[in-house]
Amino acid sequence: MLETAAVPDFLYGTAWKEERTAALVELAVRSGFRAIDTANQRRHYFEAGVGEALAALYRAGVIRREHLFLQTKFTYVDGQDHRLPYDPEASLSTQVAQSMASSLEHLGTPWVDSYVLHGPASGMGWSKADMEVWAAMRKERDAGRAKVLGVSNVSLRHLLQMEAVEEEMPRFVQNRCFVRTDWDRDVREFCAARGMVYQGFSLLTANMGVLGHPLVTSVAARERATPAQVVFRFARALGMLPLTGTSDEGHMREDLDCSRVEMSGDEVRILEGLAG
Ligand SMILES: NC(=O)c1ccc[n+]([C@@H]2O[C@H](COP(=O)([O-])OP(=O)(O)OC[C@H]3O[C@@H](n4cnc5c(N)ncnc54)[C@H](OP(=O)(O)O)[C@@H]3O)[C@@H](O)[C@H]2O)c1
Repeated sequence: MLETAAVPDFLYGTAWKEERTAALVELAVRSGFRAIDTANQRRHYFEAGVGEALAALYRAGVIRREHLFLQTKFTYVDGQDHRLPYDPEASLSTQVAQSMASSLEHLGTPWVDSYVLHGPASGMGWSKADMEVWAAMRKERDAGRAKVLGVSNVSLRHLLQMEAVEEEMPRFVQNRCFVRTDWDRDVREFCAARGMVYQGFSLLTANMGVLGHPLVTSVAARERATPAQVVFRFARALGMLPLTGTSDEGHMREDLDCSRVEMSGDEVRILEGLAG
């Protein structure tokens, strides 16, 4: 049976934080984030630093493991540098098992809430390699080491091909979300039609022009909010689970507080179709 773990409101992203990872994750949880996104990809993430922060938070009695949502990823060798969490000569199934074991050790937990394929092996479609990896990820989930599974950096084509050959679809899809693609409308609609949850990243950095758009600035002024809060609130109104990787304590609080921003259905529709 497909277990449906609770879906958080916001994900705190831990990419590109290097030696600041532990301090920033600790700050994020102390600021109110309850869901963390990481990856066993040392090139962009310091997963052990996330684990260090969690251990400190548990020790200080700030939070218990079961009240957190932890998400990590399996990354193919092509997306890694030399600091690999598995034997590159081993089969893909073994690489998934080794990467998961290493993630659990880094994070100091017997399970993660969500385990995500960082990106398919090819931009062209869902491949044999992806099928092997997905089967191995399902095995990890069935063994209790992950509650649900996800995929990232996928196109509609990947998802349609995946659906044609796989018995099981992901609970989460995590993609970079550009206004110029109507905020990844085709993938979002695919997910919505199947009860899958779309996670959007780079909502601010991929859409800098939107932050200065008159509709966004006028909603921000009316709601005494920042343009960034309006964008995150809008993303939630579209049914997205947004990610933020802010390193700023004030922004952490602002991002979590975006739910207080009120937007009409018309405002949401106009922003959704901004690309024209
Ligand atoms: N699956 C994938 O391949 C993939 C790829 C990229 C990212 N991700 C995930 O997504 C997370 C977020 O990454 P991202 O690409 O969205 O970029 P990000 O790391 O969240 O960067 C956001 C940028 O916007 C700035 N900012 C300004 N005002 C802000 C506000 N109120 N709230 C938040 N940020 C504000 C931040 O600066 P300040 O720090 O000064 O606030 C920062 O420079 C990553 O950490 C990672 O977990 C996944």
